[in-house]
Amino acid sequence: MFKKIAKFMKGYELAAALGPILVILEVICELLLPLLVARIIDIGIEGNAGMTYILEMGAIMVAISILSMFSGVMAAKYASIASQGFGANLRKGLFDHVQEFSFADIDRFSSASLITRMTNDVNTMQTTVNMGLRVITRAPFMLISAVIVCFSLNAQLTLMLVVVIVVMAVSIGLLMKVCGKLFTIFQQKMDGLNDTIQENLIAIRVVKAFVRSDYEKGKFKRANDALTDAGIRAVSRIILQQPIMMLAMNAAIVGVLWMGGNGVMSGTMAVGDLSAFVTYISQILMSVMMVAMSLMMMTRSMACVRRTVEVLDTVPDIANGGESQGRELPAPRGLVEFRDASFKYLATGTGDDVLSHISFRVEPGQFVAVIGGTGVGKSSLVNLIPRFYDVTGGAVLMDGLDVRQYPLEALRGRIGMVLQNNILFSGTIRENLLWGKEDATEDELIQAIRDAQAYDFIMSFPEGLDTYIDQGGVNVSGGQKQRLCIARAMLRKPALLILDDSTSAVDSATEAGIRESFRNHLKDTTVLIIAQRISSVQYADKIIILDDDHIAGEGTHDELLVENPIYQEIYQSQQEGVAQ
Ligand SMILES: Nc1ncnc2c1ncn2[C@@H]1O[C@H](COP(=O)(O)OP(=O)(O)OP(=O)(O)O)[C@@H](O)[C@H]1O
Ligand SMILES: [Mg+2]
Repeated sequence: MFKKIAKFMKGYELAAALGPILVILEVICELLLPLLVARIIDIGIEGNAGMTYILEMGAIMVAISILSMFSGVMAAKYASIASQGFGANLRKGLFDHVQEFSFADIDRFSSASLITRMTNDVNTMQTTVNMGLRVITRAPFMLISAVIVCFSLNAQLTLMLVVVIVVMAVSIGLLMKVCGKLFTIFQQKMDGLNDTIQENLIAIRVVKAFVRSDYEKGKFKRANDALTDAGIRAVSRIILQQPIMMLAMNAAIVGVLWMGGNGVMSGTMAVGDLSAFVTYISQILMSVMMVAMSLMMMTRSMACVRRTVEVLDTVPDIANGGESQGRELPAPRGLVEFRDASFKYLATGTGDDVLSHISFRVEPGQFVAVIGGTGVGKSSLVNLIPRFYDVTGGAVLMDGLDVRQYPLEALRGRIGMVLQNNILFSGTIRENLLWGKEDATEDELIQAIRDAQAYDFIMSFPEGLDTYIDQGGVNVSGGQKQRLCIARAMLRKPALLILDDSTSAVDSATEAGIRESFRNHLKDTTVLIIAQRISSVQYADKIIILDDDHIAGEGTHDELLVENPIYQEIYQSQQEGVAQ
């Protein structure tokens, strides 16, 4: 698992290596200082070596301190470079990978959770790497070296110190075990809170429209309280380590002073050595604590590592087809055929077929409409054509070839699609339209917006095509947005144009204008539209009625009006609406 994450250190290996090396240099300097103090006391003062000796030693100490500080600062710098670089690589890796995800993959993770993983989880891992590069080298190295130096000063005293270290390590270890679990819970609650916030903010308009703020506030409060409780439980235990550590340290100092004092009295130990010893004790015990802390930090980020690897390990369930067979692709004509196609949402659905045994044909250049109640599977049906999802039975064919046999780009390249929940990106209108065709000329742009009946309103903006669209397209109306999305899809001059309920917010006259453009300027394009209004579909070459999960009728407006009860019913209800 770590291997998969470690490769994101690429390009920052040098910084990652320099961090620990400089830390070791820093530790060596820190270990030397007490020894020099000991010399000043024992040789300079007790041994009457004179002022020059003391000043010399002092000067060396200053030099070592400066070196130590320099190493510390540089270690921090390189650890930051390495960890930030690692974070950036990892985020990019995740982002690139998620771009390959199919709709079903995104359904499974949910956008909110992917955002948390790419931001929060990466941040936690990044901090751990930063800590790790410094603390995880520093603490064990300091611990071992200080014990060795102490041992060389006085073996007996060191043995006593080792006992204290073991007692302290065990008690802090136990504490960490308890807290580790609590921190894992804390992290989960944090995820819960993030998910709640993200879901709310993404859908804030819906929340307001349905006056669900109180409900959402309640949901937020529950998630927030859960996080607070988990935090208090974890932190109220973790703070115990401070007193434990102080107690152990003071006990050790008292013991060392007592035994060492006796040694000094009896002449077996020098005063300077004793003073050095006392300094080492705090360094050693501090290291034990830091080891424990970093272990805990690592357990915390283990959860993040797992969640990240889960994303990285996801193989997009819709892969390119066909390329390996080297087969020549059929010319784009806009012929669509469903052959006994069935479909259900595998990852997120109820397990029931949303579409079962659907068969129909749309000839090149035809204008075909799909009509039916909400939730019967109209969007699911058209999503199968560009392979946003794959059929679970039967087949969908584009220009005579199974869609699964196409390279994805080639398949989607011949389809212009206006999704039901269409989206504009932040940027100018022009930039948004160019998504349809990157190298479109000005004339083509103008033609497309004229065809989509968007010309007039775009030109009524002072900046025309260069009007800036805010994120999510909030500064254009629903109907304007739909027309921009239609223009974007038309610009492509695709073989097949799919409009999923894309004229619902457009008035009938404008809609008729758009239909007119299909006839005049996109004669060769097959148009497949989903609509709710009879007026939108009545001129279609063919109308397909979808009911529940199957086709309940197929024919022209006039035919269906005579023979199809469902169509008659829809017609009746809409006529009544008009009459009122
Ligand atoms: N991503 C999904 N995961 C699981 N189930 C889904 C998903 N999308 C749609 N469904 C379910 O599949 C069924 C068909 O949905 P679909 O969106 O195709 O209906 P629709 O005919 O387009 O409806 P509408 O007219 O409201 O747009 C619904 O019961 C819906 O709950
Ligand atoms: Mg739909």
